[in-house]
Amino acid sequence: MAYENIIVSTEGGVGLIQLNRPKALNALSTAMVIELNAALDGFEQNDGIGAIIITGNEKAFAAGADVREMKDKTFADVKSENFLHSWDHINNITKPIIAAVSGFALGGGCEFALACDIIIAAETAKFSLPETSLGIIPGAGGTQRLLRALGKAKAMDMILTHRMIDAGEAERSGLVSRVVPADQLMKEALAMAAKIAGLSHPVVKAAKQAVKAAEELPLSAGLKLERDLIHSMFDLHDQKEGMAAFLEKRTPKFENR
Ligand code: CAA
Repeated sequence: MAYENIIVSTEGGVGLIQLNRPKALNALSTAMVIELNAALDGFEQNDGIGAIIITGNEKAFAAGADVREMKDKTFADVKSENFLHSWDHINNITKPIIAAVSGFALGGGCEFALACDIIIAAETAKFSLPETSLGIIPGAGGTQRLLRALGKAKAMDMILTHRMIDAGEAERSGLVSRVVPADQLMKEALAMAAKIAGLSHPVVKAAKQAVKAAEELPLSAGLKLERDLIHSMFDLHDQKEGMAAFLEKRTPKFENR
C-alpha cells in the first residue's frame, strides 16, 4: 500500500510509523487511520519486527480526529458508517506498541496514544481531551482508557474541563511512563523498542496479553490467565535458553519459539 498520510520504516527489529499531516497537526483523518491500520497489520505479520513505535512530529503527535471531516456528519451518517470503529483495529495488534509523543496529543490523538501499550513523552508534550468543547464526547476510547490509566478524579477533570496537562503532570498521573528531553525522544523510544524487540517475541506477546487482560477481567480470571500463560512459556525453546543463559552467565540467544 502506498502511504500518503504516514511514513513507514523499520530500524532493526523495530517498526516505525510517523504520522505525517503536519499542516493539520496530524489530525487523524479516516484515510490516515486506514493507512495506520494497514501499516500495523504489516508489522504484525512481519516476523522480523518485535516492537512498533508510532510518533508524530515536534509540534504534534496528533491534534485529534479531523474536525473538518466530522463537522457536517449527521447522526444517520455516523451510525451507518459506525464512525470511529476503524480506530479499534489497534487492539488486534499483539506486538507491543510505543507512542512517542512530542507536542500536542489532543482528543483522538491522546486517545490513540492511550490505545498504545507505552507512552513515552518529550518534555514538550501536552495532553488533553477537548471534545466536550466541540459539542461531543471522547469517542475513541478516552472515557474508558483515561479512567483506567489515571483514575476517576483526573479523568473527570480532563474530560469535563478539557484542561491541557503537560508532560510532567502526565508522568505524575501515570499517563506516560517516561519524560525525556525533546531532542532525545526518538533515541529513547528506539532504545526502548529495540530492547523489547530483542526479547523472545512469544514471551513479549504473552506479557502484553496478560497486562491488557487486567483492564478487562476480574482479578481471579486475570490471575488464571496469567497462570495459564506462564505455564505455556515452559513449552518454549526460549524459556530453556533464557534460563540456561542466566545460569551460564551469558546473553541469551532467543529464537522466538
Ligand atoms: N482537525 C482538523 N484540523 C485541525 C485539527 C483537527 N483536530 N487540529 C488542528 N487542525 C488544523 C487547523 O485547523 C489549522 O489548519 P489551517 O491552517 O488550515 O487553519 C492547522 O491545523 C494548524 O492549527 P492551528 O492554527 O489551530 O494551530 P495553533 O498552533 O494555533 O493551535 C492547537 C494548535 C491548540 C492544537 C489547535 O489546533 C487545536 O485546538 N486543535 C483542535 C484540537 C481538538 O479539538 N481536537 C479534538 C478533535 S475531536 C476528536 O478527536 C474526537 C474523538 O474522540 C476521536
